[in-house]
Amino acid sequence: MIKGIILSGGTATRLFPLTATTSKQLLPIYDRQMIFYPLNTLVKAGIKDILIIVAPEHSGQFLNLLGSIFKNHGINIFFEVQKTPRGLADAFLVGENFIDNNSVAMVLGDNIFEDDLAEDIKDFKSGSMVFAKKVSDPERFGVVKFDENGKATEIKEKPKEFLSDWAITGLYVYDKKVVEIAKNLAPSDRGEIEITDINKKYLEAGELSVKKIEGEWLDAGTFDSLLEAGNVVKKKEIYKKFDPIINKAIEEFNAELKELAKKKLA
Ligand code: G1P
Repeated sequence: MIKGIILSGGTATRLFPLTATTSKQLLPIYDRQMIFYPLNTLVKAGIKDILIIVAPEHSGQFLNLLGSIFKNHGINIFFEVQKTPRGLADAFLVGENFIDNNSVAMVLGDNIFEDDLAEDIKDFKSGSMVFAKKVSDPERFGVVKFDENGKATEIKEKPKEFLSDWAITGLYVYDKKVVEIAKNLAPSDRGEIEITDINKKYLEAGELSVKKIEGEWLDAGTFDSLLEAGNVVKKKEIYKKFDPIINKAIEEFNAELKELAKKKLA
């Protein structure tokens, strides 16, 4: 079985004052909160158990939105609070009991993919799988270099000197070994345990598969990328391509809210 994790902690200081009152992942991308995009990535792949890792100050808001929205749809949502952000690899330590010897697909709470990656995730058997996208600003990301046969040969976090323009996106699939690997990581220069170091371990073991993606890959960490994400999902109609489970759950949730609003007025 593959379990799902969405990492939605952090304080998103670049988006102050927006994120002074709510979590970045609860900000709107056109007609719904950002978190529905990573949820969709996992739900489309048939993942039923999803752990959402949140910052303590936003836990109530996540619970209000997602605590019971999928309860009639066979999707089980779990929450864990991450007191301080310690790096992306910390998701596998916070989520150790939840993962419980299964494989895990982890997606960053602000990552929006145009491509449907469900089949790749469903086909995952062992080792690790990451998704790479060609970008013009590779120094902002973890990057992967390929040899002439298209085989991944090197991975580096935020390279100062050009290594490759293939960025590793915020969707990662690992077998159960990831928990032990994460436990043994030393913090990087920025004081975090890096997902790139996990990927390096799998690469060294010959167990890293890298899928190249063609469609849009958006994150929404700055005012410009937040605005752009909303515009792109509208223009390319990405917002119309949600799994029916998610659309149904949102419809029911909205109907319930309207009923409650009516009662308050009565
Ligand atoms: C993180 C990862 C990086 C990855 C990126 C994807 O970067 O460390 O390898 O390419 O997410 O969004 P951060 O957002 O922590 O700078």
